[in-house]
Amino acid sequence: MNKQQYGVLINGAGWVATQHVQAFMNNPNARIVAISSLHLSDAQRLADQYQLKDVACYDTLDKALKHEGVDIVSVCTPQHIHCENVLAAASAGKHIAIEKPVANSLEELYAMRDAVRQAGVKTVVSFVLRWNPLFASIKRLIADGALGDIYMVETDYQSYNGAWWGAWEQGRKIDTGYSAMAVAGCHAIDALRWFAASGETEAADPVEVFAYAGGQRKGKTHQYNPITNTWQDYAPMEYDGLEVALVRFANGALGKVSVNFECIHPYSFPVEIFGDRGSIKNNRLWSHTLPEQKDWVEIPGLCPDSSDVSHHPFQGQMDHFIECLQANVESHCNLGDAVKTHEVVFAVQQCYKTNRPVQLPLNP
Ligand SMILES: NC(=O)c1ccc[n+]([C@@H]2O[C@H](COP(=O)([O-])OP(=O)(O)OC[C@H]3O[C@@H](n4cnc5c(N)ncnc54)[C@H](O)[C@@H]3O)[C@@H](O)[C@H]2O)c1
Repeated sequence: MNKQQYGVLINGAGWVATQHVQAFMNNPNARIVAISSLHLSDAQRLADQYQLKDVACYDTLDKALKHEGVDIVSVCTPQHIHCENVLAAASAGKHIAIEKPVANSLEELYAMRDAVRQAGVKTVVSFVLRWNPLFASIKRLIADGALGDIYMVETDYQSYNGAWWGAWEQGRKIDTGYSAMAVAGCHAIDALRWFAASGETEAADPVEVFAYAGGQRKGKTHQYNPITNTWQDYAPMEYDGLEVALVRFANGALGKVSVNFECIHPYSFPVEIFGDRGSIKNNRLWSHTLPEQKDWVEIPGLCPDSSDVSHHPFQGQMDHFIECLQANVESHCNLGDAVKTHEVVFAVQQCYKTNRPVQLPLNP
């Protein structure tokens, strides 16, 4: 359906929803028509916060899906609710913006993929860093050949995730959060795939992974808060806070990716990319295209150096999604692509059990 303006239903009215609301409000081809959340008061508060006058509020997704004029559902609920939300939205024929991680099991992942395929709706998954200005510049440099052929990439998600995050009570548990790679490390896996591919809108296909899990924090109550630089007692994280994986890609590139919920420092997302004609270390470039260069060149652009959602480029993601709908094309960051990122999240768990590399894709 190619429309002038797309009606948006925001489902889940918490922290990340504030950014989905602002991004859709700023897009002239989108209009928020409804908000649903577990507690009606949360939906109403979100509508009031952004002075959304003609927006209907609901306490269930099922009721909200019947609201007239909904074309897109933005899934902003906790991760263990995403699957049921996506299945409902797809069977109602709605396009879907899905927060990461999209699923807490392979069964959920494939059920969502199949439902979206069958419904013929379009999706975008919130791996927002693809729209980070520095990441976009790096991707353009890679596509322009500034690094030559990429043979090695390293990305790391480093953030002491904890009680400072409103959703940590669910995020810290295996049942609802699943693992550190699921909760947030999936951003680093996605960035690894993104930089290991040479095309400007292409992410590389992982074919093998091996991983270790470790750290010191699991089960401990005394915990750090990187925002206030203080320590406090809180219910423990149920899974390992450190996961480190080696990934081999179909194009021959190798990757090292980690998630670290144990680091005693502010949020950081280091990136290193090595090609046979140049290298990138965070925002610094060394390239054969600059034969006179004597020192690293700084690449301008906002670095991914904050865990605050207001710092994340949701505007770019949602503008891109609306453009995809208008042009009737799939996003490079759709659910089908996100399956490849999430398979790594689940494959590393197999490595911890078997101590053996796992071949990908898990479900061709
Ligand atoms: N892409 C990013 O960079 C980014 C950043 C932050 C959070 N997130 C993701 O966004 C999702 C939500 O995180 P958050 O920090 O906004 O959490 P949150 O707890 O602040 O918000 C979740 C909202 O969903 C509501 N909710 C819970 N169960 C529900 C249900 N069954 N039906 C309807 N609503 C329900 C809650 O009441 C709350 O309003 C998570 O998957 C998280 O990982 C992504």
